[in-house]
Amino acid sequence: NANPASAFGDGSTATEGKRLRSRAWFDNPDNPDMTALYLERYLNFGLTREELQSGAPIIGIAQTGSDLSPCNRHHLVLAERLREGIRTAGGIAIEFPVHPIQETGKRPTASLDRNLAYLGLVEVLYGYPLDGVVLTIGCDKTTPACLMAAATVNIPAIALSVGPMLNGWFRGERTGSGTIVWKARQMMAAGEIDYKGFLELVASSAPSTGYCNTMGTASTMNSLAEVLGMQLPGSAAIPAPYRERQQAAYETGKRIVEMVRQDIKPSDILTRDAFHNAIVVNSAIGGSTNAPIHINAIAKHIGVELNVDDWQTEGHEIPLLVNLQPAGEYLGEDFHRAGGVPAVVAQLMTKGLIREDAMTVNGKTIGDNCRDQEILDSRVIWPFDAPLKDNAGFVVLRGNLFGSAIMKTSVISPEFRDRYLSNPADPEAFEAKVVVFDGPEDYHHRIDDPALAIDAYTILVIRGTGPLGYPGAAEVVNMRPPAYLIKQGIHSLPCIGDGRQSGTSGSPSVLNASPEAAAGGNLGILRSGDIVRLDLRRGSADILVSDEELAERRAALDAAGGYKVPASQTPWQEIQRGIVDQLDEGMVLKPAVKYQRVAQT
Ligand code: FES
Ligand code: MG
Repeated sequence: NANPASAFGDGSTATEGKRLRSRAWFDNPDNPDMTALYLERYLNFGLTREELQSGAPIIGIAQTGSDLSPCNRHHLVLAERLREGIRTAGGIAIEFPVHPIQETGKRPTASLDRNLAYLGLVEVLYGYPLDGVVLTIGCDKTTPACLMAAATVNIPAIALSVGPMLNGWFRGERTGSGTIVWKARQMMAAGEIDYKGFLELVASSAPSTGYCNTMGTASTMNSLAEVLGMQLPGSAAIPAPYRERQQAAYETGKRIVEMVRQDIKPSDILTRDAFHNAIVVNSAIGGSTNAPIHINAIAKHIGVELNVDDWQTEGHEIPLLVNLQPAGEYLGEDFHRAGGVPAVVAQLMTKGLIREDAMTVNGKTIGDNCRDQEILDSRVIWPFDAPLKDNAGFVVLRGNLFGSAIMKTSVISPEFRDRYLSNPADPEAFEAKVVVFDGPEDYHHRIDDPALAIDAYTILVIRGTGPLGYPGAAEVVNMRPPAYLIKQGIHSLPCIGDGRQSGTSGSPSVLNASPEAAAGGNLGILRSGDIVRLDLRRGSADILVSDEELAERRAALDAAGGYKVPASQTPWQEIQRGIVDQLDEGMVLKPAVKYQRVAQT
């Protein structure tokens, strides 16, 4: 029985309606022994029995910030204003830690821990006396981990973004976090800057507390959390140090208490319409290629049908409106000042592209929240009728190379388009010889080796980098060309991989290939020197090798024990490898998906 009230034997049933689930712990006359035990220990730091038995909603603050998670660390400060908002509305705040995830700090990759943080948060929300929860979101994986857990447990939940860092600057130019690394490594490879210059240039992009100021995975996921309806309108894009960020924390604290009283749960908000809106807005903001992985995972945990093809069907033809790096020029502060998420939604609404009736945490629909939001700076958010780019969404590719992979076409540069996609007889398609790397170490070791004979018409392929191969799926598919090509002005080559790519990268890679080599995908039998044909218009990706030859290679690989991956280094790596799904399925833990609405009362 998943109902904690009856599990605690106080005789309450679902028909009694709004009895708070925390009362099963703190005010259960049928079980005074347990009530006394629960009460005494939560009194020991100064809460009073009167407070805990008053019927006031107990609100968890799921704290993702810590010294290990600098992107989210400002939540330690924001929690004070959250508590004041919660108390003002008549609730009691209980703050607790979430397993830390720092995108740039965790080895082998932060995405290994998304599902671990998810599992931990599910247990906390289910097993402790919480009537509602504030999800403190920010750095890439913290947002999906929290939303996935709230979806599974389904108690009233609201998200609070920590906000992006202030804009980075270097010699009068904006430097965007993450994105500047890709540029700086080319400059260092070309001998334009040395190691010290490299480090200074990169550090300039991180001038304050907050998450990445580019439209990387963090800004993407925080924007989409608002579009999904899980954050107060207009709050996602406020930079971390702004006073409005503190004010949003206070309002969020007040609102979650009201949501508990109104019994507004994630399942009321995370509907198919909400996910449609997230896909559409992701295209318009130039969102990260990690979004389909995380958004599909949230959908799976709330029980909404969503798959990788929906991203092309519903998102591909949406134009790019937001001029933020890596697809554009500006950064997070500019996005907020230009009107943020509501201004983008309002533009899309003028063309009927948003499902306006989707409910949000403030009790109003997304349509009502965003309808009147004007663009406040049209250099940063462009109007729908004069966008930065048409067809800014993803295309889904499939063929004998993999079951599916995605490509972000909005970041294809004119240089890249000229070189590879401009054959009038065969538009949007190209064929080239591949050079194959087995994981990022192999790539770093060999990329500059002249013996590989990589030229401007080589496709770089990296495999062994999916959820099983490099446990958690590495962000490594956007490989730079060899230094000798960069010096000749070739800044990017077509890349294919079964791993992911940082949302801060502007490379038009074919990524998230599923199934990965380590799960039996044909990337595992690709060989350097093979010709691969990519056709963006037809959505195909094929090895131009006969079926017989592919079957022989497969048999040989199987006989040798299959595609080799490095041994797990930690218990969690091994456990997750045993139960994790592929990137096209959101990289969810397969046994977890059947647990839905587990705290329904
Ligand atoms: Fe944390 Fe980019 S590294 S948000
Ligand atoms: Mg990342």
